[in-house]
Amino acid sequence: MVFHAPRSVYILAVALTTWHASAAAAGEASLEFDPARFTVKTLTLGNQSVSYRAYEGIIYVSKPVDTSYQSMNVYVPAAYFEGKAIGTYTAESAPIFLPNNVGGYLPGTPGTPGPDRSGKPNAVTVALAKGYVVAAPGARGRTSQDQDGNYTGRAPAAIVDLKAAVRYLRHNGKVLPGNAEKIIANGTSAGGALSALLGATGNQADYEPYLKAIGAADGRDDVFAASCYCPITNLDNADGAYEWMFNGINDYNFRGRTGALTADQVKVSDQLRLLFPPYLNGLRLKAADGTALSLDAYGNGSFRDHVKSFVIASAQQALSSGKHLSPLTWILIEGGKVKDIDFTQYVRFAGRMKPAPAFDALDLSAPENNLFGTATVDSQHFTQFSREHSADHSMAEAAIIRMMNPMNYIGDKGTTMAPHWRIRHGAIDRDTSLAIPVILTTKLRNAGFEVDFALPWDQGHGGDYDLDELFAWMEQVCH
Ligand code: DHB
Repeated sequence: MVFHAPRSVYILAVALTTWHASAAAAGEASLEFDPARFTVKTLTLGNQSVSYRAYEGIIYVSKPVDTSYQSMNVYVPAAYFEGKAIGTYTAESAPIFLPNNVGGYLPGTPGTPGPDRSGKPNAVTVALAKGYVVAAPGARGRTSQDQDGNYTGRAPAAIVDLKAAVRYLRHNGKVLPGNAEKIIANGTSAGGALSALLGATGNQADYEPYLKAIGAADGRDDVFAASCYCPITNLDNADGAYEWMFNGINDYNFRGRTGALTADQVKVSDQLRLLFPPYLNGLRLKAADGTALSLDAYGNGSFRDHVKSFVIASAQQALSSGKHLSPLTWILIEGGKVKDIDFTQYVRFAGRMKPAPAFDALDLSAPENNLFGTATVDSQHFTQFSREHSADHSMAEAAIIRMMNPMNYIGDKGTTMAPHWRIRHGAIDRDTSLAIPVILTTKLRNAGFEVDFALPWDQGHGGDYDLDELFAWMEQVCH
């Protein structure tokens, strides 16, 4: 449904927005953090009560185009203003947890403490209780619009906004509690992809003109660590990866909407799967033992075994923790050990979610087509395959497609990489191919970065479901 506000309401909204944006000149916001603009709040976690300062709605760029989303909430445990420590952390040393709320490449609101969707304390709450400083930025997304109806959040806006938020934290490093050299990004799905981009594109010059345009602080935007749940990333290669995995499964279940691939879609799947092995082979990835990872034209080979090894590790973890896997006849268990899985049966078990192509839809109907639209063009292609097979040949700029894919920057000379990574993708998450997080992890490891990677058993599309483990990892990388 489209809601058209009467003109008078519109003008009022604009006036309020401008007022909210800044006390300085109209349209300009200050990049200086105001240490006096906070409220004191208290949260309870179990029997722990935590008092904190809430600095909410901080505009983090000087030329905002969307003050609702180019703003950030900063939360600081009150103990740090009384000279106290929380565990080993002090006002100076506390790491800064930087979660984003982006999903579906839609605009993401600045995060707040509170319950998650299942009623459990969310990551912001847990972070505060553990003594982290939390900086939760919003970011523009593919449906963001200005008052003239122009779209303002198409690629690469969301990653540019998050980088601007990081720069704001460093710019204000002297007055803001927390250690700006220990910024840990976190996000899920599209937000996981943005977290991966934060980790893989630190200080990359490609983004500079976009950062300048919104009045981001000068300075560094690299982060210390990136936590990425089911990153919907590597979009320009994700269609081939999806068909490499799901080709042959012709029924799909898209969040409850079931259907069967049409004859044309089956043909598209057969074509797309052939694009994946050359792409994968071109990456020249290696397993931990040095084995070259490759695929033959049919998609078989050491890379498939490599992907399978992570599913085996996941099943083993489930088995060791007491799960009954024996009904799953495609898992070979001997002496309490998962010896093998039938990968084809496993893929059937997970099931196909998306028709083909999964991401660059021929009719431009996928969220990713919309992400790659422009201020005035609603949706565009971002792969040659779909452009050529579609009646609509509109295509996003190559430079923008490049900026949305962390794979392009890992190990690049002009990039300051996050040294620490944590990547999770549920073992039954079908929103993207398992190959995507495996490739990301392997490329990072091959380039010398530390990646804690796993495919949690029985886990579908989602994030923040294992906060104890997430925070244990954060503690480990920060010490
Ligand atoms: C998300 C999920 C998708 O399947 C997709 O294509 C893009 C984004 C998400 O949950 O953010």
